Amino acid sequence: MPKVYLNGHYVEANEAAISPMDRGFLFGDGIYEVIPTFSGKPVALKDHIERLQNGLDAVGINYHADYEKMAEIITYLIKELDSDAVGIYWHVSRGADIKRFHAYPSNIEPTVFAYAFAIPPSQKLNRESAKKFRVTLAKDLRWQRCHIKSTSLLGNVMHFQQGQDAGVDETILYNDENLVTEASACNVFIVKDGIVKTPPLDNQLLPGITRKLVLDALEKHTNLKVKETFFSVDELLKAQEVWITSSSKEIGAVVEVDGQPIGNGQVGEVWLSAQTAYNHEKFRD
Ligand code: PDD
Repeated sequence: MPKVYLNGHYVEANEAAISPMDRGFLFGDGIYEVIPTFSGKPVALKDHIERLQNGLDAVGINYHADYEKMAEIITYLIKELDSDAVGIYWHVSRGADIKRFHAYPSNIEPTVFAYAFAIPPSQKLNRESAKKFRVTLAKDLRWQRCHIKSTSLLGNVMHFQQGQDAGVDETILYNDENLVTEASACNVFIVKDGIVKTPPLDNQLLPGITRKLVLDALEKHTNLKVKETFFSVDELLKAQEVWITSSSKEIGAVVEVDGQPIGNGQVGEVWLSAQTAYNHEKFRD
């Protein structure tokens, strides 16, 4: 069984144990990252570490996300799995107290847990064989701090489950103004009138690293027009292409929303340009 990392030690997964008084367990009081790696190389590790640190600072967890140390642990964990495509889950909770009390305790050490798991191989640059995603739509009923990558994921879990119950892959979310925010575990892009659009960063969505890489890649490696702007559900349904992006999916082409085809119901040609550009950008550090 592959070893996992827990509080400075590599241990067998079934022997790794934390206190039930851990605030991650009691309150979901923690911050996490999912970092994809291919052939041993992490994707945009600096960006992931920066987002982790931003989240920890936002909730006042006293932990320094050190690049060298994390890179060393990640290298160890990747070797524990016999796979080319490996995701790293990195979790820092506020730590274990001796009682359950909402306020942040000042004298506890964060709990740090990381492990490696197999993810799908990197997308092949082929429209026919690309995975086609089907999604449903739902009103975004999560909290108002979705920019923080918190381990308190019940809101996201419930929205993801709506998709599962509908027999599809994901749930795209919209706010009170009928504007798309993101999906339960992905960011969302559309292509409309030749323009690639994605909602701008604010408290309603996670600053996805894949989103950032896609934006940078489109800018650097294509002539496509790109706009960070909100769009309505109606605009999404009438788009030429819809994509969902995340560390484990890269750019996922959505071909159907609530049973309605997007464009001609096939993986689009702009998707191919975007995924090609993304492949150039993803190992930038
Ligand atoms: N999910 N939005 C939400 C709500 C997410 O949970 C995720 C990632 C994203 C995409 O972020 P990134 O491109 O940095 O992976 C957007 C991860 C993979 C998860 O929770 O497993």
